[in-house]
Amino acid sequence: MAIELTINGKAVALDVPGDTPLLWAVRDELDLKGTKFGCGIGLCGACTVHIDGVAQRSCITTVAAVSGKEITTIEGLSETGEHPLQQAWVAVQTPQCGYCQSGQIMQAASLLATNAAPTDADIDEAMNGNLCRCMAYARIKKAIKLAAAGEVEANV
Ligand code: FES
Ligand code: FES
Repeated sequence: MAIELTINGKAVALDVPGDTPLLWAVRDELDLKGTKFGCGIGLCGACTVHIDGVAQRSCITTVAAVSGKEITTIEGLSETGEHPLQQAWVAVQTPQCGYCQSGQIMQAASLLATNAAPTDADIDEAMNGNLCRCMAYARIKKAIKLAAAGEVEANV
């Protein structure tokens, strides 16, 4: 039986087993390649998407578990790519290799949705599970603070 999901505002029906990881559905069935596979066991954050607005690891989430829920991937964060975090990421030139970055942005977007003015400690706590092997952590934090402060334009 098809699994019905809502991804980036569009209703989709997937003919996959219910225990299929959401990450595989997003990448392989829906061709949304912005969400990355890192560890596959919920430990790196590369696969982070929003489920009903909250950052979750799509590699350890089954499609059956999210049937009927709203899923947002990096492609759906902003139709124009102009979410304040995306603008701040560009302004700070945050990525190095880039592999972890969609997960970082999705995690940060979930934080800012509930805490518009996070402290350094808030950011550290929220971003703690998103690993970056290029060690871009300082730029990631700077970009989050820039987006939260609404100061992207001044820094471009
Ligand atoms: S790939 Fe999902 S947390 Fe690492
Ligand atoms: S920018 Fe390379 S892993 Fe984060």
